[in-house]
Amino acid sequence: MLSPHHFPGRLIIVEGIDGSGKSTQLQLVRRWLESMGYSVVFTEWNSADLVRKTTKKGKKNRSLTPTTFSLLHATDFAHRLVSNILPPLKAGMIVLADRYVFTAFARDVVRGCDRDWVRRVYGFAPRPDISFYFRVPIDVALRRITMARQVLKDFEAGMDLNLSPDPMESFKLFQGRILHEYDAMADENDFAVMDATGSISEQQRLVRAIVEDRLLSGYRKKPRIA
Ligand SMILES: Nc1ncnc2c1ncn2[C@@H]1O[C@H](COP(=O)(O)OP(=O)(O)O)[C@@H](O)[C@H]1O
Ligand SMILES: [Mg+2]
Repeated sequence: MLSPHHFPGRLIIVEGIDGSGKSTQLQLVRRWLESMGYSVVFTEWNSADLVRKTTKKGKKNRSLTPTTFSLLHATDFAHRLVSNILPPLKAGMIVLADRYVFTAFARDVVRGCDRDWVRRVYGFAPRPDISFYFRVPIDVALRRITMARQVLKDFEAGMDLNLSPDPMESFKLFQGRILHEYDAMADENDFAVMDATGSISEQQRLVRAIVEDRLLSGYRKKPRIA
């Protein structure tokens, strides 16, 4: 279990499989909060230079195990937490994170790590104030991704797991397992589960209602920090 933070800021995170629409929703939240004068910072799950080079090398010569791969991601996350998330939280800002530790909880377990072990590794991460989970069937996610750009990236399809030589089939199997992991952790982590099959505007209306209800009441709007 992640421990609540006691910083003056607020942390909102989004999770869901690729194509669930989480980035779309978070960007709309960002503009909405900014338009009301809140100080907002956005951060996403991507690799810092330092770690990226090592991961690339390890993938290339196939020297990574599920455990070492997971620890590299954890290093990456720790770096992101210290440099992009904690400073604005301490300064009283609203931090919007596109993917958080739950991405690792899902992916690393699917790749073969022990559930409890992964959770302990990330025990240093503060509990978000709101965790949105955009829940969508695999077929809908796949349709959205292929409509937007035709090609599936190898990592989205989980090709490294050798589930199927066909990327579409591999995507369904891999993301299906991820979906299962997300579903299983929804309760324990108090996810705000969104039916992500709805229209963009309908979902955004619900997301804003939840943010207003659970976060903005009692949160003092800080003057913008230059
Ligand atoms: N509710 C929705 N209905 C239909 N298409 C959507 C919806 N939400 C997002 N999309 C489209 O689906 C694709 C993936 O959305 P995105 O927000 O990037 O998903 P994610 O960040 O979860 O991978 C984009 O092309 C986006 O415009
Ligand atoms: Mg995205």
